[in-house]
Amino acid sequence: MTQLERHADNPMLKYKELGPGYDHTSETLVITHQERALGIETHRLFNTKLKRPLPWVYRNGVITIDRPLKDGEVERIPGEKGKADLRSRIIITDNLANETISEPLAGVIVDVKMVEDKLPFYMRWAKEFSQTVWGYNDVYGMWDTEENQHGNAFGLILTSVKRPLGVNADSQEQAPDKNSFKTLEQIEAEYYKNLAHTWVPPFKTRRQIAAYANIQEKVTANNYERIKEAALREGALTVAAIFDLIGRDENYHHGVFRRLLEEEYKIDPEGTRQDVFYVSTNFEMPAQTLLENPIRSLRNLVKIGAFERDRIGRDSVFPALNALSFVTIDEARNVAKLYEKAA
Ligand SMILES: [Fe+2]
Ligand SMILES: [Fe+2]
Repeated sequence: MTQLERHADNPMLKYKELGPGYDHTSETLVITHQERALGIETHRLFNTKLKRPLPWVYRNGVITIDRPLKDGEVERIPGEKGKADLRSRIIITDNLANETISEPLAGVIVDVKMVEDKLPFYMRWAKEFSQTVWGYNDVYGMWDTEENQHGNAFGLILTSVKRPLGVNADSQEQAPDKNSFKTLEQIEAEYYKNLAHTWVPPFKTRRQIAAYANIQEKVTANNYERIKEAALREGALTVAAIFDLIGRDENYHHGVFRRLLEEEYKIDPEGTRQDVFYVSTNFEMPAQTLLENPIRSLRNLVKIGAFERDRIGRDSVFPALNALSFVTIDEARNVAKLYEKAA
C-alpha cells in the first residue's frame, strides 16, 4: 500500500507525494449547478451583509478595538462605562498585570486556548470541503483571521495576570518565573505540543460543517459569557473585557453560519434539513477529547460556576436551531431536550 492510498481520506497529503519542483498538471473539477448557484448567492450575501472589518486587533501585547460600538454595547464592556472614546478602545497588557485570577479560572483559560489553537486543523478541513463554493471561500477567509486572534489573546491573559498568593506546589500549572501563570516560552512550547495532536472534524461535508459551526459558535459564545461572568466575580475586569470581545465574535460567527444554512436551504431544502438534524442530534464540542485532563477541566468549570452541560440544550442548541427559518419551534425544542436527558 502506498503512502497515498493509506491517506486517501486526507486529500492534503497527495500534494506531499509530488515532491519538489513545479507541477503543471491540473485536474478539471466538476462543479455542480447547485454548487455554482450557491456559491454566487453566498458571495453576494457576504459582499453585501456578512463581511465586516476586523473588529479588534491583537498585536504585541495590545488589543485595539477599532469598531465603533453602540451605546448599549459600551455598557457591556466591563470597566468602561461612561465617557469612553467610541472610535478606538484599547485593552493593554498593563491593565492585565494588575489583575489576579484564581487557579481554576486560569485552568479554564488554558483549555479554551487549546481548543482555539486547533484552528489550523479546523480551517484545513473546512476549506477542503467547500473550496468550490465562492461565498464559503469568502466567509472562511474572514473567519480564519478573526479566530486566529482568539487563542493568542488567551495566551496574553495567561502571561500577564497574577496568580493568587500562596498557591501551593501541587498547583495544576507549572510555576513560571514571575507571578503570572505562564511564561511566553511555556505558551510557545504548549502551542507546539498541542499542534502535534491532529484534530479531525466529526462531520465530512460542507453543509454539515456549516450546521456544526452554527451550533458550536453559539455554545462557545455562551461559554465565554459565563467565563466572563466568572472573571467579573473575581474582579478581573480586563480579563472579562477580553472574553466579552471574543464572545461577540463567536456570536457573530454563529450568525454567519446560520445565514449560510439559509442559502443552503434555498438550494436543497430536504437535504439541508436532514443535515441540520443529523448534526444537531450528534453534536459535541470540538477537540474535547484532546484536553490534557478532562476531569480536572470539568472540576475547574464547576469551581468557577461556569459548568453548563444541563443548559447546553436550552441555551445553545435550541436558539441555534430556532433561529433557522426552516426549523419549527417544536423541532428545535425536541432536539434540545435530548441534551437535557444526556446531562
Ligand atoms: Fe474562537
Ligand atoms: Fe468563532
